[in-house]
Amino acid sequence: MTIEQEHAAPAAAATTGPGRDRQTSIYRQGVLGRRPVVPTDFATLERAARAASSAEAWAYVAGGAGEGRTMRNNRRAFDRWVTVPRMAHGHTTRDLSTTVVNTRLTSPLLLAPVGAGALMGADSDLQIARAAAATGVPYIFSNQGCNPMEDSAAAMGATPKWVQLYWSTDEALVDSILHRAEAIGAEAVVVTLDTTILGWRPQDLNLGSLPFAKGLGIAQYTSDPRFREIVAERIKRAVKQDVEVTLGAVRTLLQMSRNHPGRFLDNLRSPEPRASVETFLDIYSNPGLSWDHLATLRDRTRLPVVLKGILHPDDARRAFDLGVDAIVVSNHGGRQVDNAVASLDALIDIRAAIGRGPTVLLDSGIRTGADVFTALALGADAVLLGRPHMYGLAIAGQRGVEEVVRNVVAELDLTMALSGARSIAEIDERFVRPNPSF
Ligand code: FNR
Repeated sequence: MTIEQEHAAPAAAATTGPGRDRQTSIYRQGVLGRRPVVPTDFATLERAARAASSAEAWAYVAGGAGEGRTMRNNRRAFDRWVTVPRMAHGHTTRDLSTTVVNTRLTSPLLLAPVGAGALMGADSDLQIARAAAATGVPYIFSNQGCNPMEDSAAAMGATPKWVQLYWSTDEALVDSILHRAEAIGAEAVVVTLDTTILGWRPQDLNLGSLPFAKGLGIAQYTSDPRFREIVAERIKRAVKQDVEVTLGAVRTLLQMSRNHPGRFLDNLRSPEPRASVETFLDIYSNPGLSWDHLATLRDRTRLPVVLKGILHPDDARRAFDLGVDAIVVSNHGGRQVDNAVASLDALIDIRAAIGRGPTVLLDSGIRTGADVFTALALGADAVLLGRPHMYGLAIAGQRGVEEVVRNVVAELDLTMALSGARSIAEIDERFVRPNPSF
């Protein structure tokens, strides 16, 4: 479009995208004396979310592995790069849409899978799913979700949904989750590789608090026919053993009732929930997960496969040799290995090894729209937003998630506008350089 044509088209010039729209709406509300419920910068967002959370919820959601060095590395990696905007480019609109793994995105953003979200708000998965539907940003349902994936899917409308899987020690359960993902119309399955066991998480350990042990975040399991079968078998076995209870065992139980009356009563009153929790803890993830397991995926599902948690270039190569559709470069938000490589640094190494062709997503450390821009410039095709959307949930439920998403998209749009990138494909390494003042 020539300069003359742009001047002749005031309607197009007036609507310049989500960034400007969001600013205008916030400033208009400000004139009426209303301030945003959800803070628009990450530090204030984090403080507000903390104030709205219990100690256990905050430890689990905000906490990281060990000394928290991976979380810090994730952020410092972003500080090591600066954006170099270009001027007088003459563009008034941007196109933020893109396609990854056959999923059309309105912006290069997906909501990361987060387990035990109910710590931050009841029916967390449903609220996040509704926010995803309202903003058109896909949501990846966690295998440790607090609502069955069928219910979350119903809340998504036409917005794409992906399903995340932890590889269980029970192969029939893996098949069952894959089958359910297909049945709800998921566009892809994301297999998370980095959590075959839980990392050392002092914040949780110091409180002796694990949500799953209290039955939080196991809805994907308790709603699963195969999982229920396993629980039923366990209960049957336990009852059989009960029948053979000797006087000595009765004595032990009576002793327990004196020492731990709560636990004793729980056992008597509700064997099924307790058996579900125990079963979950036993089988939710397979520490022996190998490339041989992953090689079976192609024959087990017709969904595109995404591997999440890759940090080494050789693992990235191996994933694509296996024929997966995409990988997510991620260190699980710094929750697994302390002092692990920052995901942004890993992305740079991985792109150097595999080139620009294969689809690579990134998460861990994305806090703002400017971060999304940096990640895209350094080779990500799209990013996953983790804790920030959980913080929105803690502050204002579904609306809080929506606002966080709108803010990140708005800032990405403004960064593109101010830097001279018209489309997602145009954002590349020409817009960034190492930070000379770092
Ligand atoms: C997660 N993450 C995660 N990942 C996954 O594959 N399945 C899961 O169930 C969970 N659960 C989970 C719970 C909570 C509370 C957090 C904070 C994270 C990891 C998540 O998908 C993503 O990789 C990180 O959150 C990205 O890092 P940032 O953006 O939070 O720094």
